[in-house]
Amino acid sequence: LAIDPPANEPVYQYRAGSDERKRIKDELQRLKATEVEIPLIIGGKPVKTGNLGRCAVPHDHNQQLGVFHQAGEKEVNMAIEASAAASEQWASMDWQDRLAIFSKAADLIAGPRRMALNAATMLGQGKNVFQAEIDAACEIIDFLRFNTYYATQIYRQQPGSGSAEWNQMEYRPLEGFVFAVTPFNFTAIAGNLPSAPAMMGNTVLWKPASTAVYSAWMLMEIFMEAGLPPGVINFLPGSGSQVGNPIMASPNLAGIHFTGSTAVFQGLWKKAAENLSQYRSYPRIVGETGGKDFVCVHPSADLDAVVAGLVRGAFEYQGQKCSAASRAYIPESLWPGIKEKLLTAMASIKVGPPEDFSNFVNAVIDRSAFDTITAAIDYAKEHDAAEIIAGGGYDDSTGFFIDPTVIVTADPHFKTMEEELFGPVLTIYVYADPDYEAMLDLCDKTSPYGLTGAVFAKERSAIAVARRKLVNAAGNFYINDKPTGSVVGKQPFGGARASGTNDKAGSIMNLYRWVSPRTIKENY
Ligand code: SER
Repeated sequence: LAIDPPANEPVYQYRAGSDERKRIKDELQRLKATEVEIPLIIGGKPVKTGNLGRCAVPHDHNQQLGVFHQAGEKEVNMAIEASAAASEQWASMDWQDRLAIFSKAADLIAGPRRMALNAATMLGQGKNVFQAEIDAACEIIDFLRFNTYYATQIYRQQPGSGSAEWNQMEYRPLEGFVFAVTPFNFTAIAGNLPSAPAMMGNTVLWKPASTAVYSAWMLMEIFMEAGLPPGVINFLPGSGSQVGNPIMASPNLAGIHFTGSTAVFQGLWKKAAENLSQYRSYPRIVGETGGKDFVCVHPSADLDAVVAGLVRGAFEYQGQKCSAASRAYIPESLWPGIKEKLLTAMASIKVGPPEDFSNFVNAVIDRSAFDTITAAIDYAKEHDAAEIIAGGGYDDSTGFFIDPTVIVTADPHFKTMEEELFGPVLTIYVYADPDYEAMLDLCDKTSPYGLTGAVFAKERSAIAVARRKLVNAAGNFYINDKPTGSVVGKQPFGGARASGTNDKAGSIMNLYRWVSPRTIKENY
């Protein structure tokens, strides 16, 4: 099988009057008109438990998209058995046949399922149409196509053989199942975490975020429609502890593919350590957690580029990207110009439901997010070390709306400079121009995370010093661009330190984690 390196999926623009604008509007209406009842999928079969969760709509408390059944210990044990029953056949299937399933899934999303998955992401996770399109269409399609291509490269890689000796590498899957735990904020990540290990021949137990079961279910349906055999990916919505604890105690656990909070990831890692002697192998633990992503500005920077980077980096998808800009360091000499342009840009941002396509900022995901973010805004209002120069308002009467907020602080260690908020809040610290290098050191030491960051500068020496001083501060480091929006095949994504294991989603490095190769030498 020879697969050409894929091209990135083109992004639809949804211009007013366009056919795609009409189709997405129809799809939004269709999804709102029909409530779904989402089962678990175990061994390819729907299972209902009667313990129901709600598919909520973040921008409208009076709406719901449906309900979902939640797994408990009994269903987890059924899924462990189903995955064990499926694994031998799946692992021994020719890799070409396995990969064809995921290639077909990509085509289903690119074609007939694109509008439904986008509309589900808009309604269920509060994304505007452009944010939904780059995630639930383009990024998941890219993950599936690029990973399929990378997988062929892995399978073809063979060692040298001598005249009387024949050497082979067999890229076997792990012995056991992979536990995929997926977040609410990217439908693409929800699709990638179970599919990447499955492509490499593993079976998977998948627990989607309870706030994003609706779009995750659509992905599960797409994988099945594409021909995924029963038991290969088992779909287990439910509470973290009820689903997670029995999974973590299973001797068959062979890997964890996680995106979510640092606390949950560390909890899983500790559970793996407690249960280590029961496992057949050392579990492969791959995780991407949070960030406190930075923007560092040098006095030589272009003001418009900085402002565009701040606004898009901090406020697209309400700042709920793990890559979102949440702290910025601006030189005194540029601050008046940047402030003026930033306030002008902020004044044009519209906040509201995603069905109105002119809204740039929609609701945050749920009550708990709303409470955490608004508490931080209130904290800034109450403290003299901080001044709110834009936003600061919020309203949960109809949905979880928070105005995009800019805080300026005289204290580089102010709470909102240090703590991850996962919301539309940007904190700015203004530094004295000659302190550029000291500011980079400060930035590096302010946060335990290491996910993304950006530096804005025209002077090459300023870029070079930032690259050097911030070498471990960001796994994805952007120069004169916002720190969000990595593209599969172009900017492999992930960070180290408290942000994760840096196994770079959407790259060959990630796929290597899901194989346990056998080296075979034969003399003849
Ligand atoms: N890959 C996304 C971004 O770069 C975050 O998961 O914004």
